[in-house]
Amino acid sequence: MPSLDDVTRPPGRPPRILYGGDWNPEQWPEETWTEDVRLMRRAGVDSVTLGVFSWSRIEPAPGAREFGWLDRLMDLTHAHGIGVVLATPTSSPPPWLGRLHPETLPRDEDGRTEWWGSRQHFSHSSEAYRRYAAAITEDLAARYADHPALTMWHINNEYCTHDWGDEAARTFRRWLRHRYGTLDALNTAWGTDFWSQRYGDWAEVLPPRRAHYLKNPAHVLDFRRYTSDQLLECFRAERDIVRRHTPHLPVTTNFMPFWSGQDGWAWAAEEDVVSVDVYPDPRDPAAGAYNAMIGDLTRSQAGGGPWMVMEQAAGAVNWRGVNHPKPYGLNRLWALQAVAHGADAVCYFQWRQSRQGAEKFHSGMLGHTGERGRVFQETVRVGQDLARIGPRVAGGRVTADIAVLHDWNSWWAGDQDGKPSRRIDHAEIVRAWHRALWDAHLPVSFAHPHHDLGAHRLVLAPHLHLLDDRAVTNLLGYVHGGGTLVCGFLTGIADHDDRIRPGGMDARLRDLLGIDLLQEWWPLDVGEHVDCGTFRGTLWSEELTPAPGAETVAAYRGGELDGLPAVLRNGRAWYVSTLPEPAALSRLLAGVAREAGARPVLDGLPPGVEAVRRGDLLFLLHHGRDQVTVPLPGCHRDLLTGADTDGTLTLDRYGVAVLEERGPEPVPAAGERP
Ligand code: GLA
Repeated sequence: MPSLDDVTRPPGRPPRILYGGDWNPEQWPEETWTEDVRLMRRAGVDSVTLGVFSWSRIEPAPGAREFGWLDRLMDLTHAHGIGVVLATPTSSPPPWLGRLHPETLPRDEDGRTEWWGSRQHFSHSSEAYRRYAAAITEDLAARYADHPALTMWHINNEYCTHDWGDEAARTFRRWLRHRYGTLDALNTAWGTDFWSQRYGDWAEVLPPRRAHYLKNPAHVLDFRRYTSDQLLECFRAERDIVRRHTPHLPVTTNFMPFWSGQDGWAWAAEEDVVSVDVYPDPRDPAAGAYNAMIGDLTRSQAGGGPWMVMEQAAGAVNWRGVNHPKPYGLNRLWALQAVAHGADAVCYFQWRQSRQGAEKFHSGMLGHTGERGRVFQETVRVGQDLARIGPRVAGGRVTADIAVLHDWNSWWAGDQDGKPSRRIDHAEIVRAWHRALWDAHLPVSFAHPHHDLGAHRLVLAPHLHLLDDRAVTNLLGYVHGGGTLVCGFLTGIADHDDRIRPGGMDARLRDLLGIDLLQEWWPLDVGEHVDCGTFRGTLWSEELTPAPGAETVAAYRGGELDGLPAVLRNGRAWYVSTLPEPAALSRLLAGVAREAGARPVLDGLPPGVEAVRRGDLLFLLHHGRDQVTVPLPGCHRDLLTGADTDGTLTLDRYGVAVLEERGPEPVPAAGERP
């Protein structure tokens, strides 16, 4: 499959970073459309996503087709040199579908119906939904396959529905039969002898609906796996239809960022381009680190190659309790930060801010204030910057010596009720470890525990509650092959069915990490901490006996755990049995990284300045508001300003530099005038 840039770039034009957003012109009178494309051109927008929520417009009644308006839009965008990412409109069925086929409406855990009137009210398992979705996808693909504006397909939107209803019960059983073959195997995997849950007939197996007390965790885990697979089946069905019509065009669906609902590795493998929607809170001091993590994860899902920001907000969103705008410069900083982390497309929800509907208070690239508004001025500025750097940046790769292991199965198994501490939050732990590396300016990728890890000097497993045998073998092979591994607490405690391993952790992993006995877990409450000598541990602590030969690098001091290892080392395998406070975790991981030969991008960076290498370019991103001076050895030219550096670089608030290294100035030949 060709690259994103290959297929979306008009012939004869240099490589570029795609720039644009969702455009919902069906919400506006047609006179507005020409104004829109004029302003898009002014802003350098070269891509729009059309049709995301257009099902009731295209199919106002069952089987009807109204394509005229979309024909005109496709022609209009093409005439203005703007490419179209065309969406299948299947995430928001028209009201008539629910009326004619109530079984297309999903049921929640309590059996309540999710009615039309919002969006995403479809059951992934409903045959009627799938039939109508396939039909409209087929007709859309047939109609626009040869349209010159079409550059890419966008299937559905943020697949995230659940269904606990009867349609789901039917397909859940089918999924389970496929997985287990027999009810006996299912009973064994789920441990149904606990609380008399043994199933005697497939008809007794239901989605994990509202129940009196704690549910069977293996049942819940399988339901999450099944839900991800069901939605993936919906995606594949539509993807295969559009591929049949346009085998040369890439297909994507937009992920929510670091979201637990879909197995992100399995899904990414089914896409041609991986795209993500990312909406950090402008008020969150950790938002820069969060964006970096989303970039690193999405790039890793894309196999290390370019990916796409499908959506972000130009200003405020409308779905937090309190929705803050982005201060001047922050939109640009985050857009360029995504590019630094490997994005070859920077897009927004949405182009023109709506005047009606549930998102009328959500910003757009072109806000209610229009062309003179600050947000639009920044839209123009971002477009100019992307145009400047695009030809040098697009297609460039970001590499990292360090991999963070992440697996959705572990997330699903680990984040359930009935565990030693409700405070354990998989996402927060992964985020804390990634943040620690980000603070130390260490480039990071993500990997699945089954991936070949050989290219990485250091591998971190912050919180892999569930590790199957293959993953354990992989980690052992990695360390025996010369790699360095750091595991966080609760890693490897359960097998693929979420069955606790004898001894509280996989025995081979215990040997590797130098743990003789895992005695007791001592979770920590809010505000509680443990003294670990040079740092404080939070959230968790453990009573463990080290194996002979293992080195206690940091020990708990005082209390029940006095003298026991908080950080344990067994050769190149490390175990961290608490969550060190942020600065301490960063120091610890940076030290291990140094020893493993993983180097920071730059030394001596002022706080809040991020450095990322993409291809042969160096991005410096200033996440703070006070002017800073960055020491920068060597000669560089900033592609954004054209200015040369002379050993230092000054960045204003939210400032960015995209630097290309320049060779030494040529020495004038004798007799030549300098
Ligand atoms: C998601 C959706 C968009 C829009 C935005 C608002 O990303 O895909 O349609 O609702 O949220 O932030």
